[in-house]
Amino acid sequence: MFDTISTLVNAFGPSGRENRVAEAITHLIKDKVDEISSDAMGNLIAVKKGFGKKIMLAAHMDEIGLIITTIDEKGFLRFGTVGGVLPLISLGQRVVFENGLTGVVWYEESIESIKDAKPEKMYIDIGAKSREHAEELVEIGDMAVFEGRPVQQNGLVISRALDDRVGCAVLAELARRCPETDHEIYYVFTVQEEVGLRGARTAAYAIRPDLALAIDVTRTADTPKSRHGAVSLGKGPAIKVKDNSVIAHPAIRERLENCARENGIPYQLEVLDKGGTDAGSIHITAGGIPSGGVSIPTRFIHSASEIVNLEDAGNALKLLETFVKL
Ligand code: CO
Ligand code: ZN
Repeated sequence: MFDTISTLVNAFGPSGRENRVAEAITHLIKDKVDEISSDAMGNLIAVKKGFGKKIMLAAHMDEIGLIITTIDEKGFLRFGTVGGVLPLISLGQRVVFENGLTGVVWYEESIESIKDAKPEKMYIDIGAKSREHAEELVEIGDMAVFEGRPVQQNGLVISRALDDRVGCAVLAELARRCPETDHEIYYVFTVQEEVGLRGARTAAYAIRPDLALAIDVTRTADTPKSRHGAVSLGKGPAIKVKDNSVIAHPAIRERLENCARENGIPYQLEVLDKGGTDAGSIHITAGGIPSGGVSIPTRFIHSASEIVNLEDAGNALKLLETFVKL
């Protein structure tokens, strides 16, 4: 599992630029599925044929990032955000562009409080000598992502982009296992989740599955003075009850809970007060699709150093395997 996660987090893939992630996933699963193709949005859709129900499993390939808005006369880059990037968390981080160029995120030191560090008071330093020099290296509209290589430690993974490459890794591993089932399984690796659950919407409309699950990360409440919540790292995958985008279909949630209980898989229940997942757009597509989610508990979501527990990821895989066999 760590190797698959590693391969996927190392691929550059901010929203709208997911093709490298799609290539890496294609390489991993193409021999194990009956069909694999990309749609107009860039969603990667792999199908394992069957005559039973159509089950859509979705994980998003895109990650949050920064986008160049202007380049100043000294060659510093002003930026906007792609998805939910917290300015405070970006400060001092290295970012990397698609062409491999590294930059450092810093702020105008004249501002009164670091809390006032908004993207418009911040910049990326790529070490350019002038605007002209910078323009040889990048252009307006180029995107950058956080630097942050994957590390394995104490059964945990610390890395950039675990949201949601860990979900992609779980789905890819599931596809590689070829679970024996009569159902038709759609492994859907979606685009543009971080900017509004966009790819999942068109994919769900095209597929019109009988039911769907989003495989994504969820925040934990097990760190010092964290926000109120019931999910911890290492206590099993979280079965979604509700987030800000979807109320899980009761039958889906129940089926997941039964699968976990009957197979001795640890699980937790997820009620998320902020944030959504692909299930948010899938369940209100094409006349309505019963949807739910399996989430991997993750610390420090949307930072360069997110943390997941490998056993939680492994148990998410087991849970999905039993779910698709039912
Ligand atoms: Co996210
Ligand atoms: Zn996510």
